[in-house]
Amino acid sequence: MPAQQSKTCTIVIFGASGDLTSRKLLPALFSLYLKGRLPEQFNIVGYTRRDWNDDTLRQLMKKSIENHMNFNDVADAWKQFVPHLHHVHGSLTEAEDYQHLRSALSEFEDGSWNRLYYLAVPPRFFTEIVSGLSQNGMTDQNGVWCRIVIEKPFGDDLASARILNQALHTHLDESQIYRIDHYLGKETVQNVLVFRFANTIFEPIWNRNYIDHVQITVAEEVGVGHRAGFYDDVGVIKDMFQNHLMQLLTLVAMEPPATFQADALRNEKIKVLNAIHQPSDMDLGRYLIRGQYRGYRDEEKVAPDSETPTYAAIRFDIENWRWQGVPFFLRSGKKLAAKTTEIIIHFKRPPHVMFPLPAGYKITPNILALCIQPDEGIHLRFDAKVPDTTAEMRPVDMEFHYADDFGECAIPEAYERLLLDALIGDAALFTRGDEIEKAWELIDPFITLPQGKNAPELELYEPGSWGPATADALLGKVGRKWLRGCAEHGDFSSSSDC
Ligand code: BG6
Repeated sequence: MPAQQSKTCTIVIFGASGDLTSRKLLPALFSLYLKGRLPEQFNIVGYTRRDWNDDTLRQLMKKSIENHMNFNDVADAWKQFVPHLHHVHGSLTEAEDYQHLRSALSEFEDGSWNRLYYLAVPPRFFTEIVSGLSQNGMTDQNGVWCRIVIEKPFGDDLASARILNQALHTHLDESQIYRIDHYLGKETVQNVLVFRFANTIFEPIWNRNYIDHVQITVAEEVGVGHRAGFYDDVGVIKDMFQNHLMQLLTLVAMEPPATFQADALRNEKIKVLNAIHQPSDMDLGRYLIRGQYRGYRDEEKVAPDSETPTYAAIRFDIENWRWQGVPFFLRSGKKLAAKTTEIIIHFKRPPHVMFPLPAGYKITPNILALCIQPDEGIHLRFDAKVPDTTAEMRPVDMEFHYADDFGECAIPEAYERLLLDALIGDAALFTRGDEIEKAWELIDPFITLPQGKNAPELELYEPGSWGPATADALLGKVGRKWLRGCAEHGDFSSSSDC
């Protein structure tokens, strides 16, 4: 990886006074520095409207590093790192501030340097910033490169995502745009591809002949907290499904790309999205469950009559040769019983059972659980004969845990990988413009919802539960139930509350 690193780069963070910079970006950049993965010559510039100077920014960033690691262990490295950190004062909306930024940057740079602009700001500023940079010649690539990293949400629906893409494309080439979905930076998410395509034994059975259905769960224990004001305008479907869950689905369902090049990968992902069945308005109720945790409307900055869903479960059907008849059930919510992100591949039962089983006993299907977080790993469940019985059997698990094989601290933060990839120009783990538009097209109907009797109700659920009971019915009516494959060693218990 470092072999592809450029010699120079100035990283400009718009929105550097925000939470994301101190919690994620700066620690990730410092960690890359410690690993020797930043360019030989680099500057990190925090651009804010605050009345700060370099020292203020450096002190704040030191605090954030102290929160992430034992500072004494890295104090010497920090001393060498800190002179690379600068603050530039300016607004996002005033044309002359961009001129000021341009001249400030040229003072830090010795000649023409590559530039990475990170837009950690609310989406309403994306276009303005890019046009401000472009009008001042700051996105030109004469002998250097210039890339822009854009945080989510990318648009608010299909129409606004299209407008945003068009606006960006008037100033930038698609190859300069890095749209972040931090889930793609997670090691365990990248490992879905390695698991599927670097091993021979799984791919031949990864299809409708062997797989009964797929479940993807992204559950959080926390509520909306201090983000309530933002969240109430967004809700779980925009916040989690349009991006993270759809990305997980495409990685599970895609065909093997010929190479690990960004476009080869993204071409396969968009084919999956194109093959997803779009239910009609009449049918939406069969595909969508919406819930809101009890007490959500009492959160500060939430409307007392808010109809914003904090939980959703959606069924997707992929209409292609590989996946015909294999439903994908996706669910996500806040204030659920546990924090877990997992993908469950639920295989079919054997077609014939030769064993004399007790009445009513059915062979347990094989279940493969890809544990994205926490306790990252993979569990495979199969039936085994109970010793000293004629043919009694019981499901057992074969487990792989990252912590056991690679050590407790082996997994870097998603932002570290994504920042490195943006610096070396590998866009494979970033979302392309057409992909993001297609995801909105699929998700929009679940947000706008038809009026009248076909609109799925918003159901209240208890904090600490697994969501509304109807979410169980979504699977129950087609003979399946939600599972937790990564809960504890050997626990593939149902997460249904019923
Ligand atoms: C963000 C959402 O994109 O992902 C948050 O806006 C959510 O609402 C978060 O809490 C979850 O990320 P992770 O990495 O903790 O699963």
